[in-house]
Amino acid sequence: MTQDELKALVGQAALEFVPEGAVVGVGTGSTVNHFIDALATVKGRIAAAVSSSEASSARLRAHGIRVLEAEAVTRLPIYVDGADEIDARGCMIKGGGAALTREKIVADLAERFVCIADQSKLVPVLGGFPLPVEVIPMAVAQLTRRFAALGGQASLRAGVRTDNGLPILDVRGLAITDPAALEAEINQWPGVVTVGIFARHRARVCLLGTPEGVRRLDFEAA
Ligand code: 5RP
Repeated sequence: MTQDELKALVGQAALEFVPEGAVVGVGTGSTVNHFIDALATVKGRIAAAVSSSEASSARLRAHGIRVLEAEAVTRLPIYVDGADEIDARGCMIKGGGAALTREKIVADLAERFVCIADQSKLVPVLGGFPLPVEVIPMAVAQLTRRFAALGGQASLRAGVRTDNGLPILDVRGLAITDPAALEAEINQWPGVVTVGIFARHRARVCLLGTPEGVRRLDFEAA
């Protein structure tokens, strides 16, 4: 099976987590696009969606699914999103699609984060994928020095602005052995809008696409 077929498999499988009549939190990326397409086949059974990007909102609306602003809801039963990497505890690196800030905001509204990914995303230690960080432009040089002090090489993602109009730093060379501690540390640095470590907002369930079918991983609540 191709990687895209594995993504389609888990996009479809995530439907089983969608409660009847729910407002569904929807993430961003190529795996989530398959979930959105699957969601369209049951759109009469959901109330609406809250999305983490302009791209996902456009795709949802094109399918005739109502999209609500995040500020219109106080709680979501579920948030379905992909990941760039996920570890055995459900901690993730996200932001390869530059949507990390809105992803964290929508994930924060949700009772349960369901991660959907092809099997290549499961790793023993986070950090092989460059860590995305959305930043305030005037802090770029200062933050680059801070990451260097941790052993990371930060570079601006060329030609990219987020849906919030901000740049992304991609940080290579970090072995993230304690994701919760590093997330908390980087969150303190002035100029950081969002770091793409999802430890506080880690997945409760991961559906991994494998050639043998969907492998489900369940993670303990914090
Ligand atoms: C977007 C993300 C995506 O979830 C992540 O990049 C995975 O994308 P894909 O499903 O295309 O592999 O964090 O900001």
